[in-house]
Amino acid sequence: MQLSARMLELLNTQLTNELYSAHLYLSVAAYFEAVNLKGFAKYYQEKSREEHKHALLFFDYIADRLGRIQISTLTEPPTFQMYAVLDVVTMVYDHEQKISAAIQEIIPVAINTEDTATRVFAEKMIMEQVEEEATANILLEKIRFIGDDKGALLDIDEDLAEKD
Ligand SMILES: [Fe+2]
Ligand SMILES: [Fe+2]
Repeated sequence: MQLSARMLELLNTQLTNELYSAHLYLSVAAYFEAVNLKGFAKYYQEKSREEHKHALLFFDYIADRLGRIQISTLTEPPTFQMYAVLDVVTMVYDHEQKISAAIQEIIPVAINTEDTATRVFAEKMIMEQVEEEATANILLEKIRFIGDDKGALLDIDEDLAEKD
């Protein structure tokens, strides 16, 4: 079954969204390098790689369904200069929620066009988002909890540096 034009558009949009997420998290990593929190920087570099992998999942899915893959220009991400750490991790959590909502948009279109394969694929990606949102929220709550405690912030940085 061929992908509908609307579905192809939604899938290509999500491919771009995932590439932008990779871009955004690399900019987050750069922010943490600038403020000398190397553990955070490493953590977000890895997050960026994961987002690139998500993009390739959409790439491969569109290819398998014989759709035309479109690689679009990415918006320049913010540099986060003058941001507090709490603002940055809050932005990451908000971003993950937006991504979940964007993937969610695929579901009703899949149902309306009886495109079961895309519905199942999108559902898998949504389940992945549950984890992504939870992880982003845990880090956000930790940073909120420690407030202005620089020592605690350095402890979190060390913990993140040890993550693989
Ligand atoms: Fe993603
Ligand atoms: Fe994500």
